[in-house]
Amino acid sequence: MSRVPKKDMVTSVKGMHDILPEDFAYHSHIIKEARRIAEFYGFQPMATPHLEKTELFSHPLGDTSDVVEKQMYNLRTRGGDHLSLRPEATAPAMRAYFENGMQSWPQPVRMFIAGAFFRHESPQAGRTREFHQVDFEIIGDDDAINDALAIRLCVSTLQSLGLKDMMVNINTLGDRQDRAPYRKELVNYFKRHIEKLCKDCKRRLKENPLRVLDCKVPGCVALKENAPVLVDYLSESSKKHFQEVLEYLDEIGIPYFLDSHLVRGFDYYGRTIFEIFSSESTEGQQSALGGGGRYDELASLLGAKSTPAVGAALGVERIAALMKQKGLKPRSDQKPKIFLIQLGPAAKKKSLILMEELRKIGVPIAQSLSKDSLRSQLNIVSKLNVPVAIILGQKEALDGTVGLRNMATGVQETLSFDKFIGTIKARLKEFS
Ligand code: HAM
Repeated sequence: MSRVPKKDMVTSVKGMHDILPEDFAYHSHIIKEARRIAEFYGFQPMATPHLEKTELFSHPLGDTSDVVEKQMYNLRTRGGDHLSLRPEATAPAMRAYFENGMQSWPQPVRMFIAGAFFRHESPQAGRTREFHQVDFEIIGDDDAINDALAIRLCVSTLQSLGLKDMMVNINTLGDRQDRAPYRKELVNYFKRHIEKLCKDCKRRLKENPLRVLDCKVPGCVALKENAPVLVDYLSESSKKHFQEVLEYLDEIGIPYFLDSHLVRGFDYYGRTIFEIFSSESTEGQQSALGGGGRYDELASLLGAKSTPAVGAALGVERIAALMKQKGLKPRSDQKPKIFLIQLGPAAKKKSLILMEELRKIGVPIAQSLSKDSLRSQLNIVSKLNVPVAIILGQKEALDGTVGLRNMATGVQETLSFDKFIGTIKARLKEFS
């Protein structure tokens, strides 16, 4: 038998991580809360594939966007198809909307999508190459209340996880007509200061001047201060729509910061855009917990009938990191209420029957079936802080009984095996 030398042991891919049990508990709690809130607001959970045709993303997200230019995991199949690991959920959601005839469903169609996404970025705190999002999409309606609802869902999810002091940075990109004259003015302005722009922005100025506003290089950031702002170029209808979004946010008491220089990384956005931050973040964690906006132009970019839509996504890893930093624990419905102690071969066999009965009535239990000594099992009970222990020893297995011990008081009762499940069911509240 050949042995793999240790130095050759295969490791995981850079920027892609195993989610170990502690983190998994955070992930599943975050996704569960987001889904619970989404379903309350009429969103339907659904899923799209991890692999899509590359063209689904390249044009709609923007050929010059960072994601399309540098971060897509592209592959070519043996048959010659160009596919990509999905970097985000919005373009797939819109594809799915048309492909599955959702135009004929009651509008708008509200989708909840949770899962893994892939971007080939430089891994750092809060930035990985495989990450997870919870995503809310509202397709088929352009009423400003939907924009406010997308923000409401993000904020409610974060609040229900115990996070406070959310800040929503919001802006409007206007529609395509508003942006044309603005873009011209912006180019004129930056051209006057071209020597101060970084190398990338000199290129961006030709390809997509709005992206210069998103640059983090200090020289470019400083130039932004006096750059023309899009608000001055908005049509009456774009202004009215944005005003309505803000009024809804005022009404529901969600604080926001009007950030006239906010732009987002994808070309499909128009009108409302926003990013959500926590004022509680530290560790230079000024990265957004979530972001979104209106993408009325996406359907046309995909070659479909123009369809208004708005949505948002939250980053699961970033939320989990913030929860940990704040000492917030994920809630688990599966926290064990009972510990099963078994002693001897006959009891060990019977314990399998007992466990299955408890599973059927939905009582989460803990056990250590492979441990045979009483002492080592009691050690585990005390560590887990479980209120009740069921004791199934050699004698109980022969008598057809089960011992029930209250771990706080030490009081132990003997119950018959047959009536045991009924008794547990009736007294479940006692054990919480
Ligand atoms: P996004 O701003 O690219 O928007 O991503 C949303 C959130 O996903 C970010 O705020 C962040 O929390 C998380 N995220 C993004 N990239 C990474 C990464 N490399 N590592 C860890 N977390 C990350 C979108 O994806 C849009 N599709 C949102 C949307 C939905 N717009 C309309 N509908």
